[in-house]
Amino acid sequence: MSDESAALDALLARQPSGDFAVELGDAQVGEFRAQGFTSIVRLTSDEELAWLAELYDWLFAERVQAVPGGYFDLSRAYESDGPDLQPQILSPETRFPALRRTAVFRNGRRLAARLLGGDESGLRGWGHMIRKPAGIGAPLPWHQDEAYWDPAFEYEALGAWLTLDPATRESGCMSFIPGSHRAEVRVHRHVGDDPAVHALITDDVDARLAREVPVQAGGAIFHHCRVLHSSGANTSPRVRRAWANEFQRAPRPRAERIDRPWIDEGKRAWEARRVR
Ligand code: NI
Repeated sequence: MSDESAALDALLARQPSGDFAVELGDAQVGEFRAQGFTSIVRLTSDEELAWLAELYDWLFAERVQAVPGGYFDLSRAYESDGPDLQPQILSPETRFPALRRTAVFRNGRRLAARLLGGDESGLRGWGHMIRKPAGIGAPLPWHQDEAYWDPAFEYEALGAWLTLDPATRESGCMSFIPGSHRAEVRVHRHVGDDPAVHALITDDVDARLAREVPVQAGGAIFHHCRVLHSSGANTSPRVRRAWANEFQRAPRPRAERIDRPWIDEGKRAWEARRVR
């Protein structure tokens, strides 16, 4: 066994219990329904947060692909050279099931069920981690998460976005357009009009309506899959690490056909990358 994998095994063996009691108030549920997002001061314990930070740093240091092709920089073309601007790891829980045994995941799922309504057992969850390095972390422009998904289906879904570091205006906190979750998915395009850049942007947004939502380390934002949101650049001297879990009910086939050409363009670029 290598030193690296022995260190990883030791880290996984030190996983805290994953119990941490939190609840949403009626005001937060009301805010989510009316505005499309709400935040919670803490989703997990200091102990779990410290453990998660160690695991998170290891995953990014090793550029771990939990699923094939599942490590890339969101802000530049796949496999292009340059410093890390905004690396992302997709579905880390598929390789590290311990992530599903955390308070972050358990609380996230339970509170997601409360916000979406209905039973927790019907909720599917998968995660992604987005890291904004100190000083150079790139912004993520305005988008709706559903714009990334197959338009053949209708969704009941939200993202539970945990920050491991203080998310402030300087470190790249999230901003939202209140109430925008009640409208359809808007027209999107790939950043830089390059389908090999994973990140999407919509130009159909009035940024004057934006509300910034700073959150302290260990806090989280729950946001509807259709609410318009963005995050700023990290101009601060410390890293801003986020782990988001998406929770959704089984998607239902949509009656009418909707075109989202940016998804087809992105798929072709992704496939071209994988055969290289
Ligand atoms: Ni998003």
